[in-house]
Amino acid sequence: MHNEQQEWIARIEAALDGFAPKGQGEQETLYARLIESMRYSLLDGGKRIRPLLVLEFCGLCGGDREQAMPFACALEMVHTYSLIHDDLPCMDDDDLRRGRPSNHKAFDEATALLAGDALLTLAFETMLSPQTVSRVGAEAAARAAGILARAAGAHGMIGGQVIDLESEGRAVPLETLQIMDECKTGALIVAAARMGCVLAKASPEQEASAVQYARKIGLAFQIQDDILDVTGDTEALGKQVGSDQGNQKSTYVSLLGLEEARALVQKLTREAVQALDPFPDGEEKAGLVSLAGYLSQRRK
Ligand code: IPE
Ligand code: IPE
Ligand code: MG
Ligand code: MG
Ligand code: MG
Repeated sequence: MHNEQQEWIARIEAALDGFAPKGQGEQETLYARLIESMRYSLLDGGKRIRPLLVLEFCGLCGGDREQAMPFACALEMVHTYSLIHDDLPCMDDDDLRRGRPSNHKAFDEATALLAGDALLTLAFETMLSPQTVSRVGAEAAARAAGILARAAGAHGMIGGQVIDLESEGRAVPLETLQIMDECKTGALIVAAARMGCVLAKASPEQEASAVQYARKIGLAFQIQDDILDVTGDTEALGKQVGSDQGNQKSTYVSLLGLEEARALVQKLTREAVQALDPFPDGEEKAGLVSLAGYLSQRRK
């Protein structure tokens, strides 16, 4: 990853801290545990790939990255909520996340459920605050928030999670797996690229190329996640390896085997880079090229 990207991740983390509830008011002491639980998962050092993508595409299309920051943070809030719920006993039942006990283990199931809900709503509060709307303009704010809402919902992340759960213990066709991964993981990654474009007032052609890139890296990202569940190391990964096999998940690895899955990640990564061809060469594009490569090689 480029140095500038690491710097932007540090800024994203500072902004997330600023948007997260502080629990300082008198009333907030009554639900301090909820706030602690929200902060526990939101500020615990994920890779921050999705918010980074929002900023990268905003920059690539000539926009102001700082203006896109509340939207980048909102997307990370939705992602964090999806992970808290994904780890619950009624879903993947995973006790380790980002190297620490999962939210429901550090707190309890009800608190984890509610912290997830509260992060989801905080995302929309953050994108649609009067201050943010007046900075980016009402139309861009509404479009970006609408993109995230749709991507997070029944036709995106949630729909994918349903397919994932319903595919446990069954042999599902490759086409279904692709739809599952494009929804549960790809949707938020595509939303990141589109939100960055919308906030930069990119042309429809630019947005279409961004979507192509994001679709490819989004699918590659989930396949790599499935590979790491088999070949990874619990300590480096920060999650329990072997979780998918334990839950009899249907994945590209269970269907195609490791070698084919690895080859597919490489192919999708090359295609992602090609999708950036219409953009002029320069630092912004180089950052996205290197990000695709970094993600395909990642160990966590
Ligand atoms: C994990 O996402 C869940 C998937 C969609 C595969 P990340 O690998 O981006 O998780 P963090 O945010 O870096 O922990
Ligand atoms: C997660 O897929 C997708 C979402 C959270 C939407 P996984 O269940 O494979 O993610 P990990 O491996 O638990 O991070
Ligand atoms: Mg899952
Ligand atoms: Mg999981
Ligand atoms: Mg996984």
